[in-house]
Amino acid sequence: MPDPTNRVIVALDVPTLSEATELARRLAPHLAGVKIGSQLFTAEGPRAVHAMHDLGLRVFLDLKFHDIPNTVAGAVAAARGLGVWMLNVHASGGPAMLASAAKAASATGVSGRTLVLGVTVLTSLEEKDLQATFGTVRTLRQQVLHLAREAKAAGLDGVVASPHEIADIRQACGPGFLIVTPGVRPAGAERGDQRRVMTPGEAIRAGADYVVVGRPILAAKDPVEAAQRIGEECRLGRAESREP
Ligand code: C5P
Repeated sequence: MPDPTNRVIVALDVPTLSEATELARRLAPHLAGVKIGSQLFTAEGPRAVHAMHDLGLRVFLDLKFHDIPNTVAGAVAAARGLGVWMLNVHASGGPAMLASAAKAASATGVSGRTLVLGVTVLTSLEEKDLQATFGTVRTLRQQVLHLAREAKAAGLDGVVASPHEIADIRQACGPGFLIVTPGVRPAGAERGDQRRVMTPGEAIRAGADYVVVGRPILAAKDPVEAAQRIGEECRLGRAESREP
């Protein structure tokens, strides 16, 4: 069974459900949940979510909805119907879209509430791209904080945030707001295409609630050992951040 005190969400960035299921089965005792993104969901659909639930794993459905409020509400309701634990929407979709997503996630129905996270600024965007695309003079940091506050005001449960945004968002949005952080790398690991990295322990100490880890687990010689080690780093980080 998955460990409820664990802070590690593994990104199942693999092309087929059989690969995802095989990995998830081995990793399950060391995880808080799994992340299913557009690659796996487009290839395999809702049965990928059901397969994870059959293993007792919670699912973060990372499809980053961004559409008119009515359409996003429908997509969120459908995801809630699948029983996913968390999903995300682009925080730049506007207050009405965010409010619709929050409402659709908590409407009473067969399944319980699904947590809704906002994606602020994609980490692939540089400040100059952001300013040109959105016609804004805000810095990246200002835009991230602005969108995190918008997400909170609209009733979202939290945000997806890169390691170096955690502390600012925690300060601006308070303790109850979830921060889920990809782009972490255990000490000594390959960075891949991630540039602004922290270790899992550093991310948790900075205020992240969960870390999302893909390649450092998927590409490890022993993925189970890697997940275990990262989980341990998170536990240490939590213990240290609770010290006075
Ligand atoms: O392999 P790696 O650990 O870099 O995977 C991180 C996961 O988090 C991937 O699924 C990636 O798409 C996602 N992600 C990210 N950076 C963001 C948002 C999402 O790496 N800013």
